[in-house]
Amino acid sequence: MRKKRIGVLMGGWSAEREVSLRTGDGVVAALEARGHDVVRLVWGPGSPELDQLLRACTVDVVFLALHGRGGEDGCVQGLLELRGIPYTGSGVLASALAMDKLKAKELFRLHNVPTPPYYVATHRDLDDLKEVHGSFGFPAIVKPRREGSSVGLAKAANLAELETAIGQALGFDEHVIVERFVRAMEVHVGILDGRVLGAIEIAPKSGLYDYHAKYTAGMTEYICPPRLAPTRLRGVMNLAERASRALSCTGACRVDLLVTEGENEYVLEVNTLPGLTPTSLLPKIAAAAGIDYPSLCESIVDGARLHAGLLQPPPHELVAASQHRAPHSSQVALRQVDEKALAKRAAG
Ligand SMILES: Nc1ncnc2c1ncn2[C@@H]1O[C@H](COP(=O)(O)OP(=O)(O)O)[C@@H](O)[C@H]1O
Ligand SMILES: [Mg+2]
Repeated sequence: MRKKRIGVLMGGWSAEREVSLRTGDGVVAALEARGHDVVRLVWGPGSPELDQLLRACTVDVVFLALHGRGGEDGCVQGLLELRGIPYTGSGVLASALAMDKLKAKELFRLHNVPTPPYYVATHRDLDDLKEVHGSFGFPAIVKPRREGSSVGLAKAANLAELETAIGQALGFDEHVIVERFVRAMEVHVGILDGRVLGAIEIAPKSGLYDYHAKYTAGMTEYICPPRLAPTRLRGVMNLAERASRALSCTGACRVDLLVTEGENEYVLEVNTLPGLTPTSLLPKIAAAAGIDYPSLCESIVDGARLHAGLLQPPPHELVAASQHRAPHSSQVALRQVDEKALAKRAAG
């Protein structure tokens, strides 16, 4: 049997392009080291359109090494569904829900998954921010609705800082989430195909896991497993799994949570295409569970699939193909159903 040709798609147009390129390089090296047939697909400024990029090389499966908007939010997933190419991670709907922090929080609430209190602010709210913020209190965390990697995120201690933070976050999205600041230990949980791999404690030296703390060496301490009692840790991991299920996530994902000194735990978000450089958090969690980096990458490829249940091959190719060759089996099945229904109607 011919070996699967794996396209590793990286880059993109989001604020997280650089991280994505590092993820992509790591994944390519790991899969090549294991003898896989790998194609590097670098998309973004200077590259052909994504559709052209995919047509130019025949790949059997796409490993999504993209992060952030336009890569992690369901758009690319939709294109791959239409082209009939299985891909790693979550499907269109789960990807879109997880990327949208507002929709994700709404679903968390429906599924009884605790998440910090919040409200949504837009440009118009800057005019009467004192009233809008009301008794919400300080400190507050401000973040764009659909960004990642702490892009546009800030902590505000008073009204003036809140106004500045919202103004800056509005540069990334027309909606901004203002969230209650929760003083807590931060724990990230790794999940692979619905199974919890483990967890890691994040201890940023500055107290806030912002872009600088995330991507500057030595700015954050990572402790695996987290310094929590076993029963509490189990509860946190269960909660993470429930959060990923609330959004229907599949494949590899990472859930970010806050665990207070008291009894409360809050889910911040689910990352459907988490960082996957050899030193990223999910690989660290996997390593602690005895899964090395290349094995993790291979497991992720094994989980690649299509989710939307569209006719295969894509409809536009079916139209062209139907003039030259026998219809695809799924089309035949549909036709038979139609004919049966017609016969029944005629008889009745
Ligand atoms: N409500 C909050 N209370 C305390 N810290 C927070 C809160 N929201 C976010 N943070 C901090 O900011 C980081 C990034 O926030 P998160 O919601 O995970 O967005 P991103 O998609 O940018 O990672 C978190 O890892 C955490 O350190
Ligand atoms: Mg996060």
